[in-house]
Amino acid sequence: MSLLEALDEYQAEALRAIEECQTSQEIEDVRIRFLGKKKGKLKDLQSLLGKASPEERPQFGQRFNTAKEAVETALESRKTAIEKPSGPRDQFDVTLPGTAFELGKPHPVSRTISELKDIAGRLGFSIADGPEVEDDYHNFVALNIPEDHPARDPLDNFYLSVAQAGQGGAWLLRSQTSTVQIRVMENTPPPIRIVSTGRVYRPDTIDATHSCMFHQMEGLFIASNVTMSNLKTVLKMLAVSYLGDDIAIRFRPSFFPFTEPSVEVDIQWGNNWMEVGGAGMVDPNVLRAVGYDPEQVSGFAFGLGIERLCMKRYGISDIRLLTGNDLRFLSQF
Ligand code: DAH
Repeated sequence: MSLLEALDEYQAEALRAIEECQTSQEIEDVRIRFLGKKKGKLKDLQSLLGKASPEERPQFGQRFNTAKEAVETALESRKTAIEKPSGPRDQFDVTLPGTAFELGKPHPVSRTISELKDIAGRLGFSIADGPEVEDDYHNFVALNIPEDHPARDPLDNFYLSVAQAGQGGAWLLRSQTSTVQIRVMENTPPPIRIVSTGRVYRPDTIDATHSCMFHQMEGLFIASNVTMSNLKTVLKMLAVSYLGDDIAIRFRPSFFPFTEPSVEVDIQWGNNWMEVGGAGMVDPNVLRAVGYDPEQVSGFAFGLGIERLCMKRYGISDIRLLTGNDLRFLSQF
């Protein structure tokens, strides 16, 4: 066998052996067998090379190098193939259950707010907005709540500054969305038909139906010849649209400084009644405070507690669950 043939055979044998390797250890064994410096097949071929005639030597030398390189390259790529971790495709077991894809959804209070706005929209009301940090004028004075009225008590409100609490010029977290009535009327001539939803703040004792932050929907309708029966119709339609045809609703005579006459609005709550808001005919003093003429226009206003309507709708027994952020509760809705 000529030296060239021996080199061909060496290369073919090595490539076959490399192809069969399954582990890094086998790769290493094959490397030593075919490329080992001290002992091994390459070493044997090298000593044959030394015996070749000077004419043959360049050709053999070149073939020797290409054979060696071919074996080195094949070893390297086989080694990479074995050591590379198998890709996700190889690990993917189609018989396993998939990963559940969790979809979020709006909070029940947010859903109540958007449904109420929709219903009010269908009744012809547009949406207004006002700030949560209010001045004493919009939260009290313009709403006909005089200086010495208990509603301004520092212990019943979240004033921003202790020094100013309860006095003119004070700032507070609004205690009612009725503030928005004033802001809208200040900027818009009648007629007006708006609702406004948002947070209100009161240092109430927290229990199953009271919270120191909750949401209200305020409504205001100003035009000529607006009557108390218009008010009752609108509130009844709101309640029926949101809570269903068989909801029982009642109006109790009450007092608010900014309406005359005034009512409190109750809905059926188990075997009992629950107050869900106040309403009435806008007091002439309020109309005057915003520059309207009470001889020309009249109107009604209402303020509803959104959490309580939400609780009734979804059968929630404790208002605290609505701010608890417990997914076990929230995911039921
Ligand atoms: N602002 C009142 C409250 O928070 C509720 C209310 C009563 C709003 C009568 C009104 C109204 O617009 O006319 O207790």
